[in-house]
Amino acid sequence: FYHKILDGQHWVVTAGPTVEAIDPVRYLANRSSGKMGYAVAEMAAKAGAKVTLVSGPVCLPAPFGVDRISVESATSMLQAVKEAVTDDAIFVSCAAVADYRPKKVASEKMKKTGDDGLVMELMQNPDILKWVASESRAFCVGFAAETQNVSEYAKAKMERKGITMICANDVSRCDIGFSCDDNELQVYYRDKNDVKQKAIGPASKQLVAEQLIQLIEKVRQ
Ligand code: C5P
Repeated sequence: FYHKILDGQHWVVTAGPTVEAIDPVRYLANRSSGKMGYAVAEMAAKAGAKVTLVSGPVCLPAPFGVDRISVESATSMLQAVKEAVTDDAIFVSCAAVADYRPKKVASEKMKKTGDDGLVMELMQNPDILKWVASESRAFCVGFAAETQNVSEYAKAKMERKGITMICANDVSRCDIGFSCDDNELQVYYRDKNDVKQKAIGPASKQLVAEQLIQLIEKVRQ
């Protein structure tokens, strides 16, 4: 694997959560640890690729040899991806991008008023993966964190986003997925008019990343 199979390639990987500001001290976020995306970036760099890792806020060091761009919101992640992605790139979208953000960001810390609850209006974030799939010629790999009907939802998502490959993982299981060091993927990919499937893991996220990279290489050929 370390025989530089990705020499000369450019990989762009997104990882971690996005955080969406409510006011200067509060935000909406999710439980993504960034471990899967960091493992893909690390292993792609080890295999010889030039890697740009666009990362939301996580507690992980940048993998050796990887160019990390740190962002916070989905909007800033999209901007960074637009600048990084090239037509010859392999784009692996591991980030858990927030679907919605507060419509208004308060410029001062919001104060509690009276005894009532609070209604906050949200608006949709841009879909970064969909943008790359439609606006560039990069080879796109998505991730689908599901808690039910994993295979059905994953295949539908591959169609909807116009991508060649999607990695589904069942985040309802506590031994794999979010925050864990291990993962298990059901990978679906287009092969002419067919959709094929390959299971990877359960194994460490590094080993899963290594096998995913090998599969991407095979499918791209
Ligand atoms: O639609 P859903 O969020 O389940 O799709 C998951 C895939 O889409 C992941 O690869 C994720 O990184 C990507 N995504 C994105 N921008 C969004 C939402 C999801 O790039 N706004």
